[in-house]
Amino acid sequence: MPVKILFVCLGNICRSPTAHGIFESMVAESGLQDMIFVDSAGTGDWHIGKSPDPRASGAALSRNHDLSHLRARQVRPEDFQEFDYILAMDNQNLWDLQALALPEFNGHLGLFLDFGTSGLQEVPDPYSGGEEGFELVLDLVENASRGLLDHLRDQLN
Ligand code: 4NP
Repeated sequence: MPVKILFVCLGNICRSPTAHGIFESMVAESGLQDMIFVDSAGTGDWHIGKSPDPRASGAALSRNHDLSHLRARQVRPEDFQEFDYILAMDNQNLWDLQALALPEFNGHLGLFLDFGTSGLQEVPDPYSGGEEGFELVLDLVENASRGLLDHLRDQLN
C-alpha cells in the first residue's frame, strides 16, 4: 500500500493543485510513484470540477510543472479513512479539516509548510492578488515538497 498524501486549500484551484502537481512530479522523478500517492482537495465547493486557475497553471508551467490534468474536488469525510497525511496550506484550512476529521483518523493532519525551511507557516492565498503571489506559492511549495519527500523517504526506509 502506498503512503497517501492529500494537499488541501480553500478552492483547490490555486495552492493545493500547485502542491499536487509539483510533489507528484518530484515523486515520479525519484522513482517512488508506486510508494507515494498524491491528491488534492478544497474545503470549499465553489470550484468543483474546474481546472486549476490559469494564473496558477501558467506560473507552474513557466517552471516546467504541468497542472493541466488536475480537476478540483471538495474534501470528504472518507478522506480521513483513505489518506495518511492531510496537509493544509493555511491555518483556516487546518481548522476546517480538524472540524471534519473522523475520530478514528490516526494519520498526520497539519500544515504543509512545517516540512519546509522558509520560516513561514502558511502559503498565502494568491487568489485575489497579483502575479507575485503565485510566484511565492511556487517558491514555498517547491521548498516544502523537498522536505516532505525527504521525510517520507526516511519513513519508507
Ligand atoms: P486556493 O485559492 O484556495 O489556493 O485554491 C482560492 C481559490 C478560490 C477562492 C479563494 C481562494 N474563492 O474564493 O473562490
